[in-house]
Amino acid sequence: MDERVATVQGEASGFPVPQGVFAETVTSVQHYTDRLFKFRITRPASFRFRSGEFVMIGLPNAAKPVYRAYSIASPSWDEEIEFFSIKVEDGPLTEHLQRIEVGDTILMRRKPTGTLVNDALLPGKRVYMFSTGTGIAPFASLIRDPETYEKFDEVILTQTCREAAELTYGKELVAQVMDDPLVGELAQGRLRHYCSVTREAYACTGRITDLMVSGQLFSDLGVPPITPETDRGMICGSMAMLRDTKALLEGFGLVEGANNKPATFVVERAFVD
Ligand code: A2P
Repeated sequence: MDERVATVQGEASGFPVPQGVFAETVTSVQHYTDRLFKFRITRPASFRFRSGEFVMIGLPNAAKPVYRAYSIASPSWDEEIEFFSIKVEDGPLTEHLQRIEVGDTILMRRKPTGTLVNDALLPGKRVYMFSTGTGIAPFASLIRDPETYEKFDEVILTQTCREAAELTYGKELVAQVMDDPLVGELAQGRLRHYCSVTREAYACTGRITDLMVSGQLFSDLGVPPITPETDRGMICGSMAMLRDTKALLEGFGLVEGANNKPATFVVERAFVD
């Protein structure tokens, strides 16, 4: 048994750690806006995952903790586990999670899973990673994984948020990737970050779906419209965003893939309430 499972530290202790769950320690917390924050936890030595997967997390604050699916934002080689979360005032998990501090305990179920993984896509020239809000989390993992650059020549990460301040996590992340000793050289000139905002003035405004329909996304990037011959897609956001973006990709001729049947695009809901 992992020795960390036996002891729970921090404010939220008082309940036993359920069987088969890792109890990990918060190592850093960074708040971006009143709606978004990032936190990192220790990584159990036996925990393996593929970049882009999600895992169930909870807090040791009840006899039956509430668990929610969270995309792992750190890459599979990282020594810690990173998450990027929304804060919902009455959210069963996030109303407590948003108050965590360094040293507190996070419960993490042992089995990661998910379809936003390189294995579920056929190789291609260019991969689009379409995200809204915290939907950037699995892509934060994938753009830090050398395997992504082995599989695709160009990586285009898009993020659309209501307000410009909500783009800060992604901007800091991309800047770090470019300087990273492991992936920086691979990413330079090949990773592109396309941001838009929908509820205030910004250099680029509009939903990613509208920017695709108008062709502005492609003209801004200086690339031809999406085709199944060269392009691949990954989508992560709210249910409505997934539905609309998926329909557009299908309109371009892309076909949804899965772990056991790789194809030209994949979709994942990553939304906590
Ligand atoms: P909008 O401001 O026009 O609703 P949320 O925080 O609600 O998840 O939204 C995050 C971002 O996703 C917002 O910029 C929002 O735009 C956008 N969005 C919401 N629904 C869709 C959709 N169906 N397709 C594309 N983008 C969407």
